[in-house]
Amino acid sequence: MESPSPYYFASAAFHTCFIINLVFFGQAVESPEYTPIHQGSDFEIRIYKDISWMSAPVVQGTTFQKSTIAGFHRLYQYIHGANLNSTRLAMTAPVLTTITEASYFVKLSLSASYEGSPPQPDPELNLQVEKWRDKCIAIRKFSGFARDDNIHEEAEALGTSLNEHWNGTLEGKSSYTIAQYNASSHLSGRFNEVWMVVSGCSYHGHDQGKY
Ligand SMILES: *[C@@H]1O[C@H](CO)[C@@H](O)[C@H](O)[C@H]1NC(C)=O
Ligand SMILES: *[C@@H]1O[C@H](CO)[C@@H](O)[C@H](O)[C@H]1NC(C)=O
Ligand SMILES: *[C@@H]1O[C@H](CO)[C@@H](O)[C@H](O)[C@H]1NC(C)=O
Repeated sequence: MESPSPYYFASAAFHTCFIINLVFFGQAVESPEYTPIHQGSDFEIRIYKDISWMSAPVVQGTTFQKSTIAGFHRLYQYIHGANLNSTRLAMTAPVLTTITEASYFVKLSLSASYEGSPPQPDPELNLQVEKWRDKCIAIRKFSGFARDDNIHEEAEALGTSLNEHWNGTLEGKSSYTIAQYNASSHLSGRFNEVWMVVSGCSYHGHDQGKY
């Protein structure tokens, strides 16, 4: 849908390319499992059951793009052996960047094979494990590159759809997450999502769209 400008390739792509490419390129990648429970015209609701994320807080992050690179760099080291077991872990997708008022948190899901007890990160990486159980997530898909200048409007559009069509509430109104699935070297066919934690997945057990 969207084709990034040549200027964008020259600047932002340069940074992300070299880090994220190293890990995505040519590898089959595991993604966390979920159960879709509602499909709206421009959003979807999923339950993510039981997932551990390794999270890199970027406390004084200036922008989404810079913070994603900074946080991802620490996660990259972690999965390449900077952990107390000196173990290499498999890359997973998507890479999440959670944007809150004060900070950014860049996250990678941990393979289900670790069953919630992954190798501990080297302390200087300042990573923390975040566990999800039965999280109800509203999702909006978008294509192209996720950038400082387009993520906010994607998040607003999801908020609007939820207001109009979902009979639940947003949890953590001022925070949202960008999920990126592709290496930066993929210039087309890119796939991203905005995620927001909502309530409403389990009223009466199931689907609660306003029809
Ligand atoms: C990491 O090493 C510790 C101590 O040797 C061991 O008990 C643990 O099972 C290892 N964890 C993983 C995920 O390999
Ligand atoms: C981007 O990621 C999505 C989801 O994993 C995948 O379906 C798609 O083929 C990827 N695009 C490219 C260009 O590799
Ligand atoms: C939406 O929520 C309200 C308040 O909880 C409830 O009374 C109503 O039945 C719900 N509507 C649907 C379609 O579930």
